[in-house]
Amino acid sequence: MKTHCIILVYSMAVCVSGQISDHKDRTPSDVYNQSKVHMKQDGRHQPEYYSYEQHCPDAEDIAPCFCTYHTLFNAMDLNCSAVKSEEQLKQIFKADFPFKNFRKFRIEHNNNLKVLEADVFNGISFKKIYMNNNNLEVIELQALSSCYETATEINLSANMIISFPFDELSLFSKLSHFDISSNSLSVIQADAFHGLTALE
Ligand SMILES: *[C@@H]1O[C@H](CO)[C@@H](O)[C@H](O)[C@H]1NC(C)=O
Ligand SMILES: *[C@@H]1O[C@H](CO)[C@@H](O)[C@H](O)[C@H]1NC(C)=O
Ligand SMILES: *[C@@H]1O[C@H](CO)[C@@H](O)[C@H](O)[C@H]1NC(C)=O
Repeated sequence: MKTHCIILVYSMAVCVSGQISDHKDRTPSDVYNQSKVHMKQDGRHQPEYYSYEQHCPDAEDIAPCFCTYHTLFNAMDLNCSAVKSEEQLKQIFKADFPFKNFRKFRIEHNNNLKVLEADVFNGISFKKIYMNNNNLEVIELQALSSCYETATEINLSANMIISFPFDELSLFSKLSHFDISSNSLSVIQADAFHGLTALE
């Protein structure tokens, strides 16, 4: 079995093994469509699909968050699970983002954030927001305002949330999955979900 390696920018080595014949007429896309691509960059992430296109912000500008671009879906994901503080998260979103619309956003199993601050994402939007299993206590009004028109899924389960702006939920026009289970909310306003037509 042959192993093909391509050296990309930033000295990343992409190795594709198995299933690939030496047909000269195959394009890189064909390869990515069929094979898992293993990418090593400080051993930090291994997206299933990777392309030469550089849609993500510069890695050093957004560390310890990291961005992955998926050729197959033409989509970028951002994982900020290792973020150290509210202040750091805010700074990261002041970096230069060549493309502002992401697919997935993650902060999971993080103990460093208590507050998700208003407008923290600075205009960057996400479709799927996974912020489960953290120690978040407060989601401020307009913390997710950049996602009003994009968010289909917001998962805040298993935090310590005592305050969430439920009235704001009706502004998320495409939201179909919202999970705020296993938190510390005492009273959920009776009309919290009023006007949330997309919710299943
Ligand atoms: C993957 O294969 C499908 C079907 O052959 C094709 O429509 C699609 O454009 C391919 N994707 C890429 C990234 O080449
Ligand atoms: C997100 O990043 C954290 C650490 O930075 C890592 O442990 C986790 O596996 C990543 N999640 C995904 C889905 O890539
Ligand atoms: C939210 O995330 C938790 C933990 O990963 C998962 O168990 C739950 O099913 C998710 N909720 C939804 C609506 O997908």
